[in-house]
This record gives sequence, C-alpha cells and structure tokens, in this order.
Amino acid sequence: QNGSSNGAAVVAQNGVPAEAPTKLTILYGTDTGRAKTLAENLLEKATALNISANVVSMYDYNPKKLKEEENLAVVVSTHGEGEPPDMAEDFHTFITGKRAPKLEKLKYSVLALGDKSYRHFCQTGADIDEAFTRLTASSITPIVKCDVDFEENAAAWMDNLLQNLKPATLSTAISQTLHSNNGQPKTEYSKKNPFMATVLEKVKITGRDSDKEVYHIELSLEGSGLTYEPGDAVGIFNKNPKSLVEQIIRKTGAAPEDPVSVKAGEFSLQEALLHYLEITLLSVDTIRKYYEKSKNQELEKLLIDDNLLDEYLWGNDVLDLLEDFPYDWNARDLVEILRPLPPRLYSISSSQETVDEEVHITVSVVKYEKKNRTRQGACSSFLAYDIKIDDQVPIYIDKNPAFKLPPNGAKIIMVGAGTGIAPYRAFMQERESKGLKGDSWLFFGDRHFYSDFLYQVEWQKLLKTKDLEKMDVAFSRDQQEKIYVQHKLKENQKEIFDWIENGAYLYLCGDRKNMAQDVNKALLEIIQEQGGVSEEQAGKYIKNLKREKRFQMDVY
Ligand code: 2AM
Repeated sequence: QNGSSNGAAVVAQNGVPAEAPTKLTILYGTDTGRAKTLAENLLEKATALNISANVVSMYDYNPKKLKEEENLAVVVSTHGEGEPPDMAEDFHTFITGKRAPKLEKLKYSVLALGDKSYRHFCQTGADIDEAFTRLTASSITPIVKCDVDFEENAAAWMDNLLQNLKPATLSTAISQTLHSNNGQPKTEYSKKNPFMATVLEKVKITGRDSDKEVYHIELSLEGSGLTYEPGDAVGIFNKNPKSLVEQIIRKTGAAPEDPVSVKAGEFSLQEALLHYLEITLLSVDTIRKYYEKSKNQELEKLLIDDNLLDEYLWGNDVLDLLEDFPYDWNARDLVEILRPLPPRLYSISSSQETVDEEVHITVSVVKYEKKNRTRQGACSSFLAYDIKIDDQVPIYIDKNPAFKLPPNGAKIIMVGAGTGIAPYRAFMQERESKGLKGDSWLFFGDRHFYSDFLYQVEWQKLLKTKDLEKMDVAFSRDQQEKIYVQHKLKENQKEIFDWIENGAYLYLCGDRKNMAQDVNKALLEIIQEQGGVSEEQAGKYIKNLKREKRFQMDVY
C-alpha cells in the first residue's frame, strides 16, 4: 500500500554496530504530479544517504499512522482559491480538524507548491504546517513555499532537510552526495538548459469566422535527445508584447536603457521587461509589493476586499496598475515588485511514435479588448505573431505523470473543450501506432462547428478507420441554448457508466474553473443515477476512480 519503499542498509563500521537507520516518510499531495516527482527526488537523495525513506501518496496514507512516524516530509500543492489537490482533501480535513491527535513525537517539514498569482498562495501547505505545530509536532526545517519557479527552492528545502536529519559526522558525505546529485551533464536539455527548437510548421486551425485564433505548431527536437510521452507538456520561454513594454516604460518616465537587476542578471529596463518579468498578468504578490512601496490608499482598499481584488486581478495588467494607482516609479523599484516571467506550459498534441523527433502543440491566442486597449497573452501572442517558420524557440519537456494512457490498452473516454483536445490527438496517435483499435470515445466542445472544430479531418479519419470508436461534439454557440460537453456526457450516461464499470479510463482536459467543475458535477450525477447510489456514495466512487488513476485531469 505504501508506494515504493527503500530500506537502507545498516552499515557497521570498525566492527561497531551502527545505529538503526534514520527513518523518513515522504508524503505527497498533487493534482499535476509535480509534488510526486519532487517526493521521489527526495526519496532518491535520502536513500543515497542511507536514510530509510519511503514515499506515500495522501490517498493511500492512513493519518492514524502519524503517531508512529519518526520524521515526516510533506510535499503538497495548492490550487485555485486555496484548494487542496483531490488526493490531499481527506488528509487536510483530518489534520486541520478537531479529531487530529497530539503528535508530540513527530518531527516534520513541509514543502508547499503554489502560484503567487493567487490570493491564497500555498494555503494547503501552510494549513498542514500550522496544524502540525498546533498538534505539538516539532519542525525539522521551516516550511518552504514555492512559486511556479519552484526548482531551486525545492532543492534547497531537500538539502536542508537532509542535512538536519543526519548526524554531523556524516555531513561531508552528505554534501558530497548532494553535490554529485546536483551536477548535470551539459548536453541534457531541461528547464535550466532549454533546447532551441526550430519551428517546422505553424497553421491557424480555427476558421476565418471564429471568435478565437488557434494555431497548430510543430517544433523540431532533432539532435536534442528530448523525449516525451502523450500527456506531457512543453514549457516555452516566451517574450512579452513589445508595445506593452514600451507603454509601461513611458508611463513610469524611466529610460529604456536604465540598468536593472533581475534574477537572471543585469539588464536594461527594456530587456528585463521584455524577457524576464511578468507584465501581462497581475499576481497578488505584485499588488501587495506595489502597495508596500507606494502606500496608495486606493490600492489598500483593494487589498482588504477579496472580491474587489479578484475582480481587479481578472484582465488587468501592469500598465493598468500604473495608470490606476499613480506612483512615481523608478526603474529599479518597479522591477523589484514584478514577478519573474515563468515559461508557459502547453499540453503536447503529438506522439513520438508517430512524429519521431518533433513535438506538436495547440495554442489558443489570448487576446481581448479592455479599456480601449487590446490585451494579449504573453506566450500565445509571441507564438502567434512573433514566431515564424524556421525561427527557434527555447523549450523543455515538462513531464506529467498524472495524465497518462492506461498501461494495458484499456478503454478510454476523453473529454476536452477548446485546446483541451490537444493531449487526445497525442493519445490517438500513440494508440494508432501501437495498433490499438477502438475502445476510445472522444467528447469535444467548442463554440462553432464551422470555425472551431479543431483537427476535424483527423478525427473523422480516425473514426473511419475505427481507431477512434466514438465521438460526440458539443458546439455551444451554434444554437440558442448552450450545449456543452457535460450535456453530451449526460445524454450518453448509460453507456458512459457501462464503459466505466468495464474498466474505462476517464480523461478531462481544459478549463479548470468552469468546465472541469461542471463536468465533475455531471459525472457525479451520472454515477448517482446509473449506479442507483446516494450522492455521497457517488462521490466516493469518483474519488476511488481518481485514486486508481482511472480518472485523470489536466486542467488549467
Ligand atoms: P462558450 O464559450 O460558448 O460558453 C471551449 O471554450 C468551449 O467550452 C466553448 O464551447 C465554451 O462555450 C465551452 N464552455 C464554457 N464554459 C463551459 C462550462 N462551464 N462547461 C463546459 N463547457 C464550457
């Protein structure tokens, strides 16, 4: 039940029996799989130090065992408005609740993953950390909260934790091991060392009449040695819109050449704003820092009212901030309050079985009008308008262990709206090349049949060859009333339930806030009605599907 477990050997030195090995349980809670990957990294490092460590998912962990733990490392993410990942829900409720026992013997440390754009940054990790303190457990090292650029902080947390777990006499060995673990050969491409991928193809796949612009983009991985699996994502280092950079500089009155210092080094203000700082989106963190510097009274009103703040965060950018809350900025101060520009992730829409040394993505351009100004998403507009065929783009592969085809070629039900269809193109390419016919059902939703049926020809071909068994589509704006994917699921509920009962794997990809929630609700109703069970039982049924990895989500 406990996932992978690695007992470390007890080493006897000079005939003196060594002490019992230090024990460490590594507990993770994740939706995206990132916390799991980090937990496994920690396991590897700990094992190399002869610590007897094991990794357990929060799904599989019985909190009653907390009283028996010696050392506990928790790696947990937070989503949306401070919500725990699905698999952390029960643990979080238990540990923060009244029935949690005193844990005076427990030693623990928490690594919290999150996103500083959100108000309740790293809330789940912080809750667990506080709960442990309240339950009189002792902290081995303080909680570390990571923003989207989590790598360095996570590695530092691990190293610090391990140093604290091992007696001082072993510290040299530890630092050697840690050191050798950190070194990576130069030729390996990663987030730290991105590969310059050549653009092989770029086609707009939405029609002329569409309200949206979606591009199919093919990138070359030739010579990179990079590999990926369906369900993985590509990380793209992007560039901000030049016009926005210029307007921001003009607004501050600073000079484009003013020297500034950012995480990546020393640059001119213009360069820093173009390549290294987030300006098209606002984060709560930036608004707080803006207030700390400016002490603007109007901004203070925003910060004390969650609703006002949420409303403001939606659709405003750094230029809006400068315009709405005037303050006399100089280049250095401005740069200090801005968040580093993180690479953007796109679900991969190809399989290497089919496209070999290429990777395909499906990019919807974020573009809207507000206060008489056209606003563009940093990465999508960069890919759509700046990048041409034969240009090179810095990329890396972001593995997603939480969105994977069944290991045994079981039936799959794929639900996606908009570019949420991307990973299913990869899924189908993979299955087709492996000769897996049928047993697949695609639900796709978008606005209009004529302009937004992404990859229509490919799906129809797959249906014809019976690689894809069934397909149902929901075009929301082709008629008076909205038709969404969840309506199609409900229409087909008997058969859906049948597929699930017969071992089908369920996939959901696309918008997290609205679509994912509504689809989850529809599934709950389907299980309730078809299974003839209560809402609570249906909830348990779905939770169990998730635990068994038979219901996987890639929502954003
Ligand atoms: P709409 O824009 O007409 O509301 C991809 O964006 C598709 O997802 C669109 O057809 C969009 O419809 C639809 N969509 C929007 N909200 C949704 C929801 N809550 N559930 C399912 N689909 C939704």
